[in-house]
Amino acid sequence: MTHRFHEQVVVITGAATGIGHASAVRFASEGARVACLDIETTKNESTAVLAAEQGGDAIAVTCDVRSRPDQEAAIAEVMERWGRVDVLVASAGMYVGGPLPEVPLDRWENLVAVNLTGVLTSNSLVAPIMIDQGSGTIVNISSMAGKTSWPNSAEYSATKSGVIGLTRSAAMELGPAGITVNAVCPGNTVTEMVRKVAVEIGATLDMTGEEWLEMRANDTALKRLAQPEEIAGVIAFLASADARYLTGQAIEVDGGLILS
Ligand SMILES: NC(=O)c1ccc[n+]([C@@H]2O[C@H](COP(=O)([O-])OP(=O)(O)OC[C@H]3O[C@@H](n4cnc5c(N)ncnc54)[C@H](O)[C@@H]3O)[C@@H](O)[C@H]2O)c1
Repeated sequence: MTHRFHEQVVVITGAATGIGHASAVRFASEGARVACLDIETTKNESTAVLAAEQGGDAIAVTCDVRSRPDQEAAIAEVMERWGRVDVLVASAGMYVGGPLPEVPLDRWENLVAVNLTGVLTSNSLVAPIMIDQGSGTIVNISSMAGKTSWPNSAEYSATKSGVIGLTRSAAMELGPAGITVNAVCPGNTVTEMVRKVAVEIGATLDMTGEEWLEMRANDTALKRLAQPEEIAGVIAFLASADARYLTGQAIEVDGGLILS
């Protein structure tokens, strides 16, 4: 593997599992110094160990993205250790869903705090560092749910559409400083989250989780779900020099789901 990110500092939220975990391993395998941020301490530490084993350097920082002080402390630790932030991958997120008339306000507020405020906070904390450097790239993880719709997912779709709007505005604002900001919109990707989603949504359709996932796979052109490593590959491309003229986009990585 070529070392596209040799000694670059990459901050990844939601690094304990899934897409964030796969991204940490991918960036480390290409020479990056990776800061893994997650609320799940044990799994996050395992990610950092695995990332360091790829030959890069890695640290685990326990961080609840809902908390600005937590995120400030995490970025301060990164700055103290490595003195810069070249890449931010904002992947921490969660899914909740259910019928619109029954959305509890506290559930909505928590989802917004994780999926939207968490992303806004991480973007706003690395922006001044990247402006000072005159370089940097941000990749926010949205979802196909931010571009398309289905029943019982108003809350989740709203947060993921919000991430796209945030990304576009940040791209305009930070572009003059040489910073790119893009979003990735994964389709159904085999992670802990999607297994939980499958059981929940499947139940509303009288299907098992496995049956729902099979249906979703069949809805794609490629007739299969994504692996987290395949999303991480696109994230790494967006953070690479090959994508330096690419900004403000929300890239669909959905195996052709949107075509059906
Ligand atoms: N898996 C999919 O099918 C899919 C599809 C589209 C978009 N996404 C998005 O991709 C991102 C990653 O999801 P994933 O599929 O890898 O799921 P995942 O559950 O495997 O990973 C999410 C990570 O975020 C962390 N997290 C949750 N709340 C947090 C908080 N308050 N503070 C810090 N960390 C927190 C979790 O501990 C976990 O490690 C999410 O933003 C999700 O919405 C996933």
